[in-house]
Amino acid sequence: MKRIGLLTSGGDAPGMNAAIRAVVRGAIYNGLEVFGIERGFDGLIAGEIFEMDRKSVSDIIHRGGTVLKTARSTQFMEEQGFRMALNMLESFQIEGLVIIGGNGSLHGALDLVKAGVKVIGLPGTIDNDLPFTDETIGFDTSVNTVLSAVGKIRDTSHSHDRTTVVEVMGRECGDIAIVAGLTGGAEMILIPERTVDMNAVCRTLVENRNNGKMSSIIIKAEGVDITTAELEQTIREKTGLDTKMVILGYVQRGGSPTARDRMLASVMGYEAVRLLISGEYNKAVGFRNNDVVSYDLQEAMQMKKKSLLPLSDISDILSK
Ligand code: F6P
Repeated sequence: MKRIGLLTSGGDAPGMNAAIRAVVRGAIYNGLEVFGIERGFDGLIAGEIFEMDRKSVSDIIHRGGTVLKTARSTQFMEEQGFRMALNMLESFQIEGLVIIGGNGSLHGALDLVKAGVKVIGLPGTIDNDLPFTDETIGFDTSVNTVLSAVGKIRDTSHSHDRTTVVEVMGRECGDIAIVAGLTGGAEMILIPERTVDMNAVCRTLVENRNNGKMSSIIIKAEGVDITTAELEQTIREKTGLDTKMVILGYVQRGGSPTARDRMLASVMGYEAVRLLISGEYNKAVGFRNNDVVSYDLQEAMQMKKKSLLPLSDISDILSK
């Protein structure tokens, strides 16, 4: 293998730049040429491909976002776009491709594998919803961003004897809510993995108030099948408590990556290169029990994800 390609795809995540740096510098150290592909699969289809050197990744380890830009490509899902992507890889003589992204992006990676492309997938998403790794690149930074916001919201909620519902991201996965809830001392964590019982929510809030707990923080994952606005209104109507909502939104996707995310990105990025040069293709790289791991990409995507529900249960007990 002489030349590899590298792209980021789907929602950006803090630490993607540290992963790009690791792949580029790791590859060059091992005698490979690296071509950066801009805007994910869309840029691959459009041929937005350029050679990278050690300097092209200088001064990015601490930056959020992705210098390669990213996109959610609809074109790539269609036959014609997919063919164009394959042709472009051939034109640029790219023999191996590193794809950094979340669930949708790694399913796209799997389609490329089935078409004969040699691929390595790296888990880059704040959602922590990939089954083959304990943590995804971006998750820790996102949780810390939520934690910092929750601390500030707690101050004002306490001053006003108020209940605040904080909506966090994560798609169908409640991990951001669970870890931010546990570490932020949330009175309640609502996640898509568990059915929300509105009566129980209201009863707990009233019991808390009767026990002298005058303010509460509820962390609600976006994937819960009741909107945050409905939740806020229902609590207000059923309990009479002063209730507000905050949707944290895209702030959770930006910012300088934490040490943990930079470490995961550096180690997993280097592992992607190591696999390619040792002829081990079509793998997903993950981090399990504090060690880098890799699995067949297809098998990796079908694994059962480690559940963080026990942390949610501990949080419930500690926040009473
Ligand atoms: O997958 C990351 C994520 O931030 C999810 O948590 C969120 O649901 C989604 O992306 C938002 O995507 P978009 O940038 O397309 O609005």
